[in-house]
Formats: sequence, structure tokens, C-alpha cells
Amino acid sequence: MLNLSLAKTYKDYFKIGAAVTAKDLEGVHRDILLKHFNSLTPENAMKFENIHPEEQRYNFEEVARIKEFAIKNDMKLRGHTFVWHNQTPGWVFLDKNGEEASKELVIERLREHIKTLCERYKDVVYAWDVVNEAVEDKTEKLLRESNWRKIIGDDYIKIAFEIAREYAGDAKLFYNDYNNEMPYKLEKTYKVLKELLERGTPIDGIGIQAHWNIWDKNLVSNLKKAIEVYASLGLEIHITELDISVFEFEDKRTDLFEPTPEMLELQAKVYEDVFAVFREYKDVITSVTLWGISDRHTWKDNFPVKGRKDWPLLFDVNGKPKEALYRILRF
Ligand code: XIL
Repeated sequence: MLNLSLAKTYKDYFKIGAAVTAKDLEGVHRDILLKHFNSLTPENAMKFENIHPEEQRYNFEEVARIKEFAIKNDMKLRGHTFVWHNQTPGWVFLDKNGEEASKELVIERLREHIKTLCERYKDVVYAWDVVNEAVEDKTEKLLRESNWRKIIGDDYIKIAFEIAREYAGDAKLFYNDYNNEMPYKLEKTYKVLKELLERGTPIDGIGIQAHWNIWDKNLVSNLKKAIEVYASLGLEIHITELDISVFEFEDKRTDLFEPTPEMLELQAKVYEDVFAVFREYKDVITSVTLWGISDRHTWKDNFPVKGRKDWPLLFDVNGKPKEALYRILRF
């Protein structure tokens, strides 16, 4: 029997979070959440297309359930996410004639959206992902192309943070991205954030998504370096979307119906190693969120290979603890 709780074990280190859908608040996942977690991120429910599908219509239902569960059980929420190139409805960028909206109109809509969400969730959200995945990672360019950038211009990041600062109360404001511990993207991200901070942009922290895998030999050294670089900018750090795939990103194999013992052992070791790093840097890392609860369902099930199952989390498909969980509970 496992009596230890993750959240309790790490209470003097950082918050322990999970990404959730409303369905996760029932059954086995509910039990796991109550025992092990003290922070929740709505996996999709707060994204623009879900919560604000039409200009005059918000859909607060799913978040209402997550918020109620959080408050009842003494948990906090990470708000995810205001400005992103994905999962944003087309109306945001179109005017009433169906033409591309003006910069002023898009900013006005963003303000209304951020204000509404900040005011509604002030009592429970401790951090907002204000801008998600803005740094380009395929080409030499610094910033990714997106409707936000195309219409508002490169200053859209600064503008989004300034608006969020007006309404977010005590909540911390984060810039969140993936692969930002890898040297190629660390360098770009550092440049972007440094410049934004020098221009007075109210960014409190950086989110390291941490969609990792068990085969990356450089992970620990890259991670330490990245934490130090971001901390040198005076930023707080959240690990926002942790999962550790059993497949290398380029691996397209589809022949596995369960993880091999070798994979589970490697995975346990990687979880053990990265949590050792998180603990070492507990002064700057204030929250660690897993992107899901158990291997029963995870966004990695179909990504990046359609129809393929993955097993990247701390609990197995039946909600039973994996070796990885034991390793991060006992240190
Ligand atoms: C993913 C969700 O987990 C999926 O359910 C959804 O279909 C697509 O988005 N980076 C992010 C997250 O910032 O919002 C993404 O979440 C995973 C990658």
C-alpha cells in the first residue's frame, strides 16, 4: 500500500498539479487527485475556443466544475491560456464583414476576454499562462507567425502581459512554451524574454512545458542550464505540462500494446532524475504540473503518431502507481 501523498511530500518544495477535464473529477482519477495533487490546470476548458467560442458567448460550465472541486478540496488553479496560435476561434481575427479585423479591434477583444476570465477566477487562479508558444522553433526566426502577431505586430506579447497585469490581481503571469530547455530554443527564448523585461513587460515567470521522453540523454544537463538562465532574468519557474513519453519524438513505431519493462525502468529513472533537479532548484521552481493523471488517457495517445497509445504519466492505465511515482516519493 502506498500511503505517501505527492502533494504532501512536496509541500515544502512546490505545488503539485495535474491537467484535468471535468470527467477526471470522478472515479479513479478523482481519488488520485484528492490524494496527490493540490493544483489543477484545465487541460482545454479555459482555452479561447472552449471558453469563448463566439464573441457574445462564453462557455463557463466545465471550468465551473473544476473550480468548485478545487475550492472544496483546498486546491488552486493554473489558468491556461490567453494568447496562443492554436485553439483560438476564427471570429477573434475577423471584423463584422468577415475581413481581417483591425489591430485595435483584436486588442479590444483580447482585453475583454482577459478581463472576464481574470475577474471570474480571481479567487482561485494563482498563475496565468498569458502567452503560449510564441517562440519559433522550426526556422531561424525568433517569433512564430500567428494571427495575433500578424494583426497586432511583434508587440502583441508585451500588450497581452500589460492587459493581464491590469486585471489579474495577485496571480502571477507566465510565458509558457515547449522545448525551451533545449539549447536552440533556450537561446531564442532568453533573447525574447530579456528584451521584453528590459522594456518593462510585467512577466513574472516562465513555464517549461516539459513534454519529454525517456531517451533524451541531455535532458538533465539542458534542464539545469535552462533553469539557471531563466532564473538569472529574475523569473519564477513553473514546470507546466510534464509528461515523459516512452517514444522518441521522431519514433513512429505503432507495434506496442503496452510499455516494455525496459521502458518503464528508464521512465522511472528519468522522473527520479528530473524531480531531483526540481528539488535542487526549489527556490525558483514554485509549481510542477503533470499533463494528465494516469495513462488511461493522455494527449500523447494520438500525438505525434495518430492512433498510437503512449504511457507517459505516473499512474498506469488502471490508475495504479507506476515505479516512477515511487521514485519521486522516496528520496
Ligand atoms: C493539448 C491537450 O492536452 C489536448 O487534449 C488537446 O487536444 C490539444 O492540446 N501544449 C499546450 C497544451 O500548451 O495546451 C496542449 O494541450 C499540449 C501542448
